[in-house]
Amino acid sequence: MESSAFSFLPLSVQMNILSMVDSKTQKEMTTSQRELLPRVSLQCEDASSLTILSKEEIELFNTTGFFVKDDFLGIENLRAYYSNAEQLFENGKMRPAGMGGQSSELWKDSSVRSDHIVWLNDIEDREKWSEEEAGCLRKLVQKVKLIQTELNQSCNFDSHETQIQLTCYPGDGSRYVRHLDSYVGATTRRITCLYYLNPEYSAKDPEAKKLGGDLRIFHHDSDSEFTDISPVGDRLLVFQSRLLEHEVLPSYFKRFAITVWFY
Ligand code: OGA
Ligand code: NI
Repeated sequence: MESSAFSFLPLSVQMNILSMVDSKTQKEMTTSQRELLPRVSLQCEDASSLTILSKEEIELFNTTGFFVKDDFLGIENLRAYYSNAEQLFENGKMRPAGMGGQSSELWKDSSVRSDHIVWLNDIEDREKWSEEEAGCLRKLVQKVKLIQTELNQSCNFDSHETQIQLTCYPGDGSRYVRHLDSYVGATTRRITCLYYLNPEYSAKDPEAKKLGGDLRIFHHDSDSEFTDISPVGDRLLVFQSRLLEHEVLPSYFKRFAITVWFY
C-alpha cells in the first residue's frame, strides 16, 4: 500500500518536508522499514515491443533487483557527455551534496557523502540553463528518460515523475555510506538509473580497479552478500530504489555519474 501522511501534497512539497528530516533517517533505516516499501514488478507481456532493454534485463530486475547494461550510448557520446560534466564541475556549478532531499543545504555531512552534485530536473528550461551549460547533457537526460517511456508502454510501469542529478566524487577517497534511495512515508522513488560518465575507467584495464569508486549493492535476500559494480564509462545500471541498499566505496579519481530516479 502506498499511503503516507502527506501523500496528498504535491511531490515538490513532499520533498521539501523530507529534506528537513535528519539524515540519520536514511542511515538507520531498518530492514523491517524497508519491507514496508512495495517493490516494483515489471510485467512485460510482449517482449518484441522492447527496443532499449531486453527481456533478460527485465527478468533480472524483477528477481535480483538490478541489471547492468554496458556500452549503452557509445564511446563518442560518452566523451562528449563527460567533457560537458567536467566543465560544470570546473565552473563551480556543482555543490557539496546534502542528504534527504533536493533543497537540503542544511544537512551536509561529508562523512556520510562527500560528492558534489547539481540537479538537472529543469535542464530543458532554456531560461535556467544556457545552451553552453546544458550542452549535450540534455540529450543524455532524454535518452535515459526513454527507459521510463519504454517501461510505461511495455511493462505496465505507470511512472510520470523523474528526478535527475549529476554527481562528482572528486577523488580524495570521497564516498557515500550505505543507504536506500527511498524513504518510508512519502511518494517514493521506485527505480534508480545510473549512467557512468568515466571514459578513463575501462572494464578492460586491470589497473582501473585501483581508481576505486565501485558501487556496492547489498543483496536483498542476504545480510552479508553484495555485488560490486565498477563505474565503467558508458555503463548503465538500473535497480530497485526501494529494495537495494548500496554504498559508493572510496573513490580516488574524479568520478562522474548521472542518476535518474523514476517515481
Ligand atoms: C546516490 C547513489 C551511486 C553511484 O546518488 O544515491 O547511490 O554509483 N549513487 O553514484
Ligand atoms: Ni543511492
